[in-house]
Amino acid sequence: MNYLNKIEESIRYIRENLKHAPKLGIVLGSGLGGLGELIQNPIVIPYEKIPNFPISTVEGHEGRLIVGELSGKTVIAMQGRFHLYEGYPIKDVIFPTRVMIGLGIENLIVTNAAGGVNMEFKPGDLMIIKDHINYSGENPLIGPNLDSKGPRFVDMTNAYNKDLIKIAKTAGAKLGLELKEGVYMWFSGPTYETPAEVKLASILGADAVGMSTVPEVIVANHEGINVLGISCITNMAAGILDEPLNHDDVVKTSLRTREDFESLVLEIINSI
Ligand code: HPA
Repeated sequence: MNYLNKIEESIRYIRENLKHAPKLGIVLGSGLGGLGELIQNPIVIPYEKIPNFPISTVEGHEGRLIVGELSGKTVIAMQGRFHLYEGYPIKDVIFPTRVMIGLGIENLIVTNAAGGVNMEFKPGDLMIIKDHINYSGENPLIGPNLDSKGPRFVDMTNAYNKDLIKIAKTAGAKLGLELKEGVYMWFSGPTYETPAEVKLASILGADAVGMSTVPEVIVANHEGINVLGISCITNMAAGILDEPLNHDDVVKTSLRTREDFESLVLEIINSI
């Protein structure tokens, strides 16, 4: 079966299980999956049940879709995403994004855990992504263009939708959160960056570094979907503080910010 047919088959399977088409997609990053539990009248679909779906392997990531209502809107949330560093081909990494778009979402909120590069950031901060740098050498659109999905050459000038950024900032202010805003730089992982790479990221204009998100954002832009990106700064990137990094601390910090993160996303969805 070709790639487009695989996408269609997954969409059909999920649609058969739903009463309402989701209008908004959410990708939940490391330690941020708790938001999925707030979804009302949830229909939960484990990835392994969906034809053609990859299966997620990382600790701190469950692998399921949750469809239901958040702030009165029908949403579809991915609890667990696929990363390049897990060994998935890039087309698998973005497969769920294509499926969510095929189900009818018009807006996509992508979230992640990230290392802070900007010295004004601290662990626990939430950063609205205003732009990204793709430092991976990968791009999910390499290969024959899927003409039915979008153009060969995709404009990335407003990859992160300005109206959604405005909505997020207003929501943050209303909640009394001091939101940061910045550029996210994608490294393939699975190693954390070296201090020299973090210095490079800083010189190139990055405010945060991470191992996800950019593939999904590229595909959403291919298909003309509005994107909002939110990073949870779980740690200062390597070499900024005199401390080694580890995944447990990353997950601990994202869990610590859970309340702020969840109230922010609920308020944003309320205003979309
Ligand atoms: N680097 C890359 N990815 C990350 C980091 C980091 O410092 N923290 C959480 N995800």
